[in-house]
Amino acid sequence: MMIIQHQIIWDAGSELGVSLMDSDHRDLADKINDVYDACTRHEWDGSIEHAMAELSYHTVNHFNREEAFMREIGYPGLRAHCKVHQKLTLILDAISDRIGRDKAAAIDEETVDFLKKWLLKHIQHADFRLAEYYRGIGL
Ligand SMILES: [Fe+2]
Ligand SMILES: [Fe+2]
Repeated sequence: MMIIQHQIIWDAGSELGVSLMDSDHRDLADKINDVYDACTRHEWDGSIEHAMAELSYHTVNHFNREEAFMREIGYPGLRAHCKVHQKLTLILDAISDRIGRDKAAAIDEETVDFLKKWLLKHIQHADFRLAEYYRGIGL
C-alpha cells in the first residue's frame, strides 16, 4: 500500500494472502479515501458525516470478522489484537462525536492522515502476524 498525495493506493504488496482480511482491508482503504475526498471538498453538506459513518460501520464489521477468525483458528495473540481494535473503535467514535458537534473543526487532513497511517501500520504489524500464524498452522 502506498500513500500518494493523501490517497491510499492499494497494491498487491498490501495483501496478506488471507482473502477474508485482504478484501476487507481494501474496502477500508477505499472508505478512508472517501473520508479524505469529503474533507477536501469542504462542503458541510453531511458528506463527511456520511463518509465517517461508513468508515466506522465497515471498520467495526471488519474487526468483528477478524476477531471471529482469530477465535476460530485459536490465535494466541487474540487478546492483544482485540485491544488494538477496541482502541481504534473508540477513536473513530470520538471523531464522529466531534463531527456532530463542530463540523468544520472536527476533521482535517491531519485526522485523515492518522487514519491512513493507522490502517497501514495495523496491517503491516498486527494483521501481518495473524496472517503469518494462520499460514504457519496450514489450515
Ligand atoms: Fe486487525
Ligand atoms: Fe485487519
